[in-house]
Amino acid sequence: MTRYRIGSLADIPLRGSRCVDTPAGRIAVFRTFDDQVFATENRCPHRGGPLADGIVHGHAVTCPLHNWTFSLETGRATGADDGAVAIFRIENRDGELILDLDAIVPEPAEASGD
Ligand code: FES
Repeated sequence: MTRYRIGSLADIPLRGSRCVDTPAGRIAVFRTFDDQVFATENRCPHRGGPLADGIVHGHAVTCPLHNWTFSLETGRATGADDGAVAIFRIENRDGELILDLDAIVPEPAEASGD
């Protein structure tokens, strides 16, 4: 486990995100409406859109380029989209955020076929 300090929760707006450059690459860190934090790779598997620029809703993010949506909890695409993004464990230690740089790579979601 490689831990990496990325700063303060207060640096991320509620229902917003921040992009951090780490030894494991560029990682998007999200703060949800209920003040939880999640982290994913920043690159959308569709065509490389920057997920940190996406829209955070619930525990999901929608890519700013073509609107694919990914669960921040599992990394899997939701709805009719397929694919997945790597996720990273993140700890909120009294407002200080510590990222585990060992990526968790989920199995891609199956497209619904609709
Ligand atoms: S690049 Fe993300 S949906 Fe197309």
